[in-house]
Amino acid sequence: MNPTPPQPRPPAHAPGATIDSILAAASDQARDTLRVLGELLGNEPSWNLSATQFAARHIGVDPSSLASTRYVGPTTSLAVLGHLLRLEIDRHADQVVIGSPGDGEPPTWSQLDLGPGVQLPVPGRLVAFFPAGTLAEPPLCISIDDRQWERDFAILSPAPAKSVAEGLMTVFRNRMKSELNPLRGRVLEARVDDGAMRIGVTAELAADRSGLILPDSLWAEIDIFLAAATSRRELLRTLGLGTNRGMLVAGPPGVGKTHLVRVIAAELAGGFTTILADANSMRHAIADLYAESGNFGPTLVVLDDIDLVLGHRDGSGHNNSLADFLSALDGVRQRQDILTIATTNDPESLDPAAQRSSRFDTVITLPMPDADLRARILERHLGQLGLGIDYAAVAEALEGASGADVKEVVRRAVLEHGGSFTQDQLLDIAESGRWQTAVDRGRYLAPKAARRKSRVGFGG
Ligand SMILES: Nc1ncnc2c1ncn2[C@@H]1O[C@H](COP(=O)(O)OP(=O)(O)OP(=O)(O)O)[C@@H](O)[C@H]1O
Ligand SMILES: [Mg+2]
Repeated sequence: MNPTPPQPRPPAHAPGATIDSILAAASDQARDTLRVLGELLGNEPSWNLSATQFAARHIGVDPSSLASTRYVGPTTSLAVLGHLLRLEIDRHADQVVIGSPGDGEPPTWSQLDLGPGVQLPVPGRLVAFFPAGTLAEPPLCISIDDRQWERDFAILSPAPAKSVAEGLMTVFRNRMKSELNPLRGRVLEARVDDGAMRIGVTAELAADRSGLILPDSLWAEIDIFLAAATSRRELLRTLGLGTNRGMLVAGPPGVGKTHLVRVIAAELAGGFTTILADANSMRHAIADLYAESGNFGPTLVVLDDIDLVLGHRDGSGHNNSLADFLSALDGVRQRQDILTIATTNDPESLDPAAQRSSRFDTVITLPMPDADLRARILERHLGQLGLGIDYAAVAEALEGASGADVKEVVRRAVLEHGGSFTQDQLLDIAESGRWQTAVDRGRYLAPKAARRKSRVGFGG
């Protein structure tokens, strides 16, 4: 039996084959082994490569002929882009190669806050290579860097494919405003922590009109405002009449301004993303706040108690928060999808520039309730406990009280008498004034210092 003569081995690769083409033809396992070997021999772990070097190597071009298309954006928008990038990484998982952001650091992951205890892992700092025919026709890399001073999302492409990268960037930016953005249509809160503004999901607002007693004429005004933002929006736009930009809600303490804003936000929920700004984000990060607001689809920005943050210019004509606020608001004037609602105790304390009608198309003032409204507010807060109570008589005894005061009276009655009390007991509390808390709430003419609260957040 003749042994088979040894066959000449075919050359492993055609002459002129590059390392990349050899690697591309190798199996996954062989490729991993070769990469480790290469790193060991060359003593150069691939995460010593910068994102650009990594991209050049994988795309197969010289670093000097790479084009980069960048988006530099605020923290939360960048995390949303990270989430969208992750969707693509998952979609092409068998072909994508993840690299480090450089500096010898491994790729890092970060989190997108979706509410108490719910966090979505998203790329923080890394670069991802998408071979030709995956994300686009040409091979591309996407790098993301969420460090506070970078905040950068870049698509690296061969220079001749720059327009493809630009088109892809537009696709990503549009996806941010679409249903693919898990923050869209939610109620969000903007906070400043460690100097950086972060936006996270907060509890849904469970406020509705039945809990807030206002004169009918005011509800009619509010309905017109809402129509301009919703049902009449397209028509206004088509006719070139401009859509709604904002509403300023003024009125003394405790008349229901914060409550009203929550009702409006709840009514717009779903169609609009709501961003509740805390005092620090109004004071220190208003530009970022509006930059973020453009990325969640139609958005309602709520600035509660702006007078605490935006007073008048001082003697030298200066007020940084005010100046930032005015330029941020002017910046959104052209943008049709951002609506601002601000509240203030004291419109007089606002710089006239902040009130100008071009910045807020609607200014409504919630009045101190008259006797009739006080009676209805009392009825509302007493609920089932109101059986046998003469609302009008108690309301009469509460001359000058705000809605919040009326609620305090009911609260005091429950504290003193539990779940059942008489008309006389309630009247006694109303007349004694012992429902009043130490700080004199609800007195519009009280000195400014006493009226001003240094509340942070969005309490009701
Ligand atoms: N007209 C009203 N009808 C029913 N409840 C009211 C009314 N006005 C105030 N309240 C109740 O009083 C409480 C305080 O109201 P809210 O915080 O909205 O007042 P505000 O005008 O924002 O006050 P501040 O200027 O102190 O921020 C809320 O629980 C609210 O439900
Ligand atoms: Mg308030």
